Amino acid sequence: MSEVIVEFRNATKSFRNVPAFRNVNFTLARGEVHALLGENGAGKSTLTKVLAGLYPLTSGKLFVEGKARSFSSPIDALGHGVAMVFQETNLIPSMTVAQNLFLGEENFFNRLRGINIKAQQQLQRLSFHVEPTALVSSLGAAKKQMVEIARAVQRNARIFIFDEPTATLTPEEKQHFFALVERLKQDGNSIIFISHALEEALAIADRISVLRDGELVATDAAAMFTRDRIVQAMVGRQLKDELYGEQAKRTARPAGAKALALENVSMGKTVRSATLSVFAGQITGMFGLVGAGRTEMMKIAAGVLKRDFFHGGRVKLNGESVRFSVPRQAVNKGIAYITEDRKLDGIFDTMSISQNIFFGKLAKGANPISVVSMAQARREAAGWLEKLTIRTIRADARVVELSGGNQQKVVIAKSLIQAPNIIIFDEPTRGVDVGAIAEIHAMIRDLADAGAAVVVVSSYLPEILSISDRILVARQGRIVEEMSIEDATEESIMYAAVH
Ligand SMILES: Nc1ncnc2c1ncn2[C@@H]1O[C@H](COP(=O)(O)OP(=O)(O)OP(=O)(O)O)[C@@H](O)[C@H]1O
Ligand SMILES: [Mg+2]
Repeated sequence: MSEVIVEFRNATKSFRNVPAFRNVNFTLARGEVHALLGENGAGKSTLTKVLAGLYPLTSGKLFVEGKARSFSSPIDALGHGVAMVFQETNLIPSMTVAQNLFLGEENFFNRLRGINIKAQQQLQRLSFHVEPTALVSSLGAAKKQMVEIARAVQRNARIFIFDEPTATLTPEEKQHFFALVERLKQDGNSIIFISHALEEALAIADRISVLRDGELVATDAAAMFTRDRIVQAMVGRQLKDELYGEQAKRTARPAGAKALALENVSMGKTVRSATLSVFAGQITGMFGLVGAGRTEMMKIAAGVLKRDFFHGGRVKLNGESVRFSVPRQAVNKGIAYITEDRKLDGIFDTMSISQNIFFGKLAKGANPISVVSMAQARREAAGWLEKLTIRTIRADARVVELSGGNQQKVVIAKSLIQAPNIIIFDEPTRGVDVGAIAEIHAMIRDLADAGAAVVVVSSYLPEILSISDRILVARQGRIVEEMSIEDATEESIMYAAVH
């Protein structure tokens, strides 16, 4: 194998004496793409954060380019060639691409005029198609990622860490991202790639390592792995059935009463006279490409967003027109909107998990006196922790201490404790590992079986096909097609979404 550029030797990182990963031996070679896989909470992010200078090791050693290192900060790590490319990019939205590339460099302001040309050269060399004079705020997720990478290259990074970089990308943007990784690799850079999309890892990685409960349980050439072998290593057993395998044709659950309806609802440019119905006892899948307005339609239904005052159309709940001015009114009427963006409006980071879950109950206006009982909060939360297999060291841990996928489960628990009868899930399994996806799907099915009207918004077709009874396809702000799962195919859904 070629030169080892990063090595963790017998490395352990503990938080309050509980190891997030232990005795890990992991190497990254020059010019290699090394995929790091594992269930939620397995320790993937923590391992790479040590390399990026966010945490020190508790024991063991880290070698970078042959020297023992313990970086004190991300800047220190970058100074030694290590760049972690975050999902929430650190770019300044109100500045141009070029300004962001050279920000913080000496003579930045003197060179303002020259930097567009330099930026153009830099971007071209990397074959990134981004306009240097464009404002960062105007770029999509994939292009922001390119600028972030170009900036790291500009600062001489040679080791790149990508933690779930594709989770929020459209299929087209994903192709860009893969090309970009290939490009970095050809230039001799080394890449650690974390993802829950196992197919992606199999496609772009040279080597694959699997963490399970903080231990490195497998490392091998990617060619030696199959999807099954990865899953087995991840969960330590064979999963019974393929999550999104070849689906036998299913019979749809029959529609109950019409629970929720949007009639000619409009909002700005994103929702244009959208009309749709959702029925009790069924799972309605909502598919559409990014920008189709699915999330916005559902946020209007749940009172999170306001429609136009004059030509806004109508939202009907159990046949009655409603107009929510705050989300809490919707919650009181039994609607739960479980958000796609947990960072923004899902959770209170610094509160404990029990507090967060119990807060859901508070939001519904539970008797404030009963709310002070933290013992009860803990009991109820514990039930949900178990139900959703939220893996944590202690239920009193703060949410910031949870892994990304486990935070998603807290968001779900927080809404379900309100016992809603209309439940809208927006990308419920993004960033969630294969085992947990099956658990969350089972829970969604149970809710529909118990009579709830369930909506699942997803950009992932296999998920839509495996969970829905009925499928709505959104395009350019309205619903353009409705089909039963009994007639739907991947092709027919895609056709409706694109044409
Ligand atoms: N700052 C912290 N304080 C305490 N515990 C932490 C902290 N960060 C992570 N942990 C714990 O360390 C373990 C590993 O978390 P990590 O974020 O590395 O998982 P992950 O493999 O990235 O999971 P995911 O796929 O869900 O992102 C988890 O049990 C998590 O709760
Ligand atoms: Mg993580």
